[in-house]
Amino acid sequence: MITVRAASAADEPSWRELWAGYNAFYEATVPEPITQSTWRRILDPAVPIVGRVAVADRRVVGFSNSVLHESTWAPAPICYLEDLFVDPEMRGKGVGRLLLQDLVALARQRGWRTLYWHTRGNNTTARRLYDTFTPADDFVRYVVTPTQRRDP
Ligand SMILES: CC(C)(COP(=O)(O)OP(=O)(O)OC[C@H]1O[C@@H](n2cnc3c(N)ncnc32)[C@H](O)[C@@H]1OP(=O)(O)O)[C@@H](O)C(=O)NCCC(=O)NCCS
Repeated sequence: MITVRAASAADEPSWRELWAGYNAFYEATVPEPITQSTWRRILDPAVPIVGRVAVADRRVVGFSNSVLHESTWAPAPICYLEDLFVDPEMRGKGVGRLLLQDLVALARQRGWRTLYWHTRGNNTTARRLYDTFTPADDFVRYVVTPTQRRDP
């Protein structure tokens, strides 16, 4: 049986192991102070980051990290799902689906206006799952990194 719940302090070692796998998936190097800060903020109820973990046989096998933010279009918060990861050994067993269903349920319970996320266009495995929740829209993402910015 797989359950999903809020991340708690005792989950740190297993969460970190999965986080390292997630960073490797994106070929990203996340410095230790950032990882420390992310974990600390997940546990801090004053910070609008929502960290959830999927647990199977008392083992943490997946996580979602989301950020709540304000909206100019409605007073209710919007939930941005930033990270989703399932232990490679546990894939294809419905863990990813449960993590998404958990966020949809939380959105209903807590009155978030919408839940949204991005993924790479070529992440076909993830998109097969996502397409069962809602079709992708046609927005295009622009990302500016100010320290690398050259004004046009
Ligand atoms: C994307 C990811 C979270 C999916 O997790 P998962 O637990 O394997 O997904 P599920 O078992 O819930 O799969 C649900 C659906 O996704 C599709 N799917 C998942 N893995 C699949 C695979 N290897 N091959 C084909 N379809 C797959 C199926 O349509 C499946 O539907 P079904 O339940 O009717 O069979 C997981 O593959 C992962 O962590 N990938 C690496 C990180 C990543 O891509 N994160 C998302 C970045 S935005």
